[in-house]
Amino acid sequence: MPHLLDNATVLITGGTGAWGKELTRQVLSKFNPKEVRIYSRGEHAQVEMRREFPDPRLKFIIGDVRDRNILTLAMKGVDYVFHLAALKHVPVCEDNSWEAVLTNIYGTQNVIEAAIQNQVKKVVDVSTDKAVEPYNFYGVTKACAEKLVINANQNYISKTIFMCIRGGNVIGTTGSVVPLFAHQIRKHNKITLTDPTMTRFLMSTKEAISLVFTAFEQALGGEVFVMKMPAANMETVADAMLKLKGNRRTKVGRIKVRPGEKMHEVLVSHNEAKMTYDLNNGYFVILPHYAGAELGRAYQKFPKLKQTEFSSQNTRQLDLAELVKALKKEQWLVDA
Ligand SMILES: NC(=O)c1ccc[n+]([C@@H]2O[C@H](COP(=O)([O-])OP(=O)(O)OC[C@H]3O[C@@H](n4cnc5c(N)ncnc54)[C@H](OP(=O)(O)O)[C@@H]3O)[C@@H](O)[C@H]2O)c1
Repeated sequence: MPHLLDNATVLITGGTGAWGKELTRQVLSKFNPKEVRIYSRGEHAQVEMRREFPDPRLKFIIGDVRDRNILTLAMKGVDYVFHLAALKHVPVCEDNSWEAVLTNIYGTQNVIEAAIQNQVKKVVDVSTDKAVEPYNFYGVTKACAEKLVINANQNYISKTIFMCIRGGNVIGTTGSVVPLFAHQIRKHNKITLTDPTMTRFLMSTKEAISLVFTAFEQALGGEVFVMKMPAANMETVADAMLKLKGNRRTKVGRIKVRPGEKMHEVLVSHNEAKMTYDLNNGYFVILPHYAGAELGRAYQKFPKLKQTEFSSQNTRQLDLAELVKALKKEQWLVDA
């Protein structure tokens, strides 16, 4: 049976980023799309990506999600949109709050409007655990973006289906703790640890993209998809990196918790837990407040989430051996 993406035209905002490249790789290798449009600002990143992916089905468009006119033109004839473009570094969003609003909130509303105008069939928004009970400005903007996307299903008269996925820490991506520790060991033979008991959800880039595909294939509109991912505390992450990259002289220093950093992250909040179903396949689905009969019927056969919230503290914790094994699968880290 053909897949939705076979013979489809796809647009990926932020396609040159870490998630974007892996998504592009999998869309091109697993399915047979007619065209995949990469929409981002940086010329250099697009040139590099074109070299890395010499595939005639790829088309590169320079554009900003803040620019609704260009975005609307870029979406002409597009069947599906994956919205990944964002400012995602916590300190950058703290220091440049209005820029974060413009890209993460205003940019997302532009994606919604351009998609409706072009009669796009489905839009997947990539969100984060930091959007749940947000403590930093990045999380605040991603929470607003999520709400805009989920509410778009009821706010506008259109056939476009809007959904979100929430990711945890993707192991190899910039801004994540693992590449930071790898860099610190390489440059200074030292790791700086905030709080050893702090926990983070961890997922590989491949798992992140599986989550995107699951939501894309299954969503009826209005759902937030979450993966049942494990977590690890910072001490275990530091020990794993010392084992893989350190030597007898590698030092471990302590620094203060950075502004906006939580001790533990949450993927399903206490309030959302009541509306969350366990799909029994490694994923949870959170329904919106406005879930009507159709959404209710679609998920009522699944059990509700058992916990009162799903956090990086109450999920399965990876031990050192498991984390080392997971990290060894990350090719960039092996090469680093
Ligand atoms: N990495 C993680 O651990 C993680 C976890 C959960 C969720 N997420 C979410 O996943 C998404 C992708 O993250 P990532 O790690 O792949 O980020 P990334 O590597 O920093 O990539 C960001 C992408 O967005 C583009 N971009 C940024 N601002 C833009 C704008 N104004 N207009 C158009 N394109 C813009 C960037 O290209 P240019 O700068 O060239 O425009 C780049 O292609 C983000 O929405 C993030 O919030 C990430």
